[in-house]
Amino acid sequence: MIQLFSSTLGEEELAAVKRVFESRFLGYGNESKSFEKEFGAKIGSNRVLATNCCTAALYMSMKMLGIGPGDEVIIPSINFVGCGNAIMDAGARPVFADVELDTLNIIPSEISRLRTRNTRAVLLLHYGGHPCNLDEVREHARGLRIIEDSACSVVSTYQGKNCGTLGDIGCFSFDSMKILVMGDGGAIVVKDDELLEKAKQYRYLGMAPKLSSGTDSLAEGKDRWWEIQLATTSNRYTTNDILCSIGRVQLRKLDSFVRRRKAIWRAYQAGLSTIPWLTCPPEPLPQTESSYYLYWLRTDKRDQLAKYLVDNGIYCTFRYYPLHLIPQYGWKEKLPNAEQLDRTALNIPVHQNLTDNDADRVIETIKAFGRRT
Ligand SMILES: Cc1ncc(COP(=O)(O)O)c(C=O)c1O
Repeated sequence: MIQLFSSTLGEEELAAVKRVFESRFLGYGNESKSFEKEFGAKIGSNRVLATNCCTAALYMSMKMLGIGPGDEVIIPSINFVGCGNAIMDAGARPVFADVELDTLNIIPSEISRLRTRNTRAVLLLHYGGHPCNLDEVREHARGLRIIEDSACSVVSTYQGKNCGTLGDIGCFSFDSMKILVMGDGGAIVVKDDELLEKAKQYRYLGMAPKLSSGTDSLAEGKDRWWEIQLATTSNRYTTNDILCSIGRVQLRKLDSFVRRRKAIWRAYQAGLSTIPWLTCPPEPLPQTESSYYLYWLRTDKRDQLAKYLVDNGIYCTFRYYPLHLIPQYGWKEKLPNAEQLDRTALNIPVHQNLTDNDADRVIETIKAFGRRT
């Protein structure tokens, strides 16, 4: 089966893990701090905290912005379920915006249509790695906080700036199906020092980071170095040195992964765009760069095509299930584009381990399906 996602892990990652193992400290230490610095340098931010996953960063972002009961957060419906959950679990209400049929990104004018006195933030997704139209989003989101889910857009850029650094808070994922993988892992990136202080608190149980404890307190000559002072209450979202040692190696390979993904993407565009019964994705907007995380096509014969591909050894799926259709979120209104995409859109494999032959096989199998129907 040609897989939809695949990671590239080798001897270097293994050696990095071995070093951590031999150091006998597996928790949040030097590797984690180095990863934060190096990832920050890559995306152009010095306010990066690594987390145990992106969902954690999404949960933290709600707390950090003080979003709670009575508040509303606008999000595009085609989205990862953790985004909806983060809003719900904060006690706020997710408000679902429709998406563009071609990019699957939020329709910016939806923000104006949907915002009310209670709207506090917009939680954006850069679908498949293609940056959404931030200039237009900003026009419609004046006065609102902007959170970016940058799980698909690890090195995507918008007018020269990395996605995830364009709003107030950016959330990244390094789980096993992402481009840079750690097994599980994520990062939260914030725009100012005030949010950074909050991120430090919420990442680790609500502890006040400036107040020392343990051996630091001992060094300061405190009599009772075991005291704990909370700034707030929170869960525990820290990462560790094993994960981050893998991440540091992956970071050095990241550009080559994205180059290869782009080549596969190009091959699909060249091979599939002339097929009359399907629609290929658009190129990224001008002055933007994609991370080429997903490739998506659209066809009225989606379900038959999906079955045919799987029967012929090519895995495919549709990400992401429209969140407004999930009953627990309590949404009533129809969103025509998201619902049309739910019937017509399909993701086919894009990753750095695909060979040119694999890409040809995907293209030829899709063409063969067309000849049969
Ligand atoms: C768009 C998007 N956001 C967030 C997440 C959550 O990432 P994590 O698995 O690191 O919690 C995912 C994971 O699939 C995702 O695809």
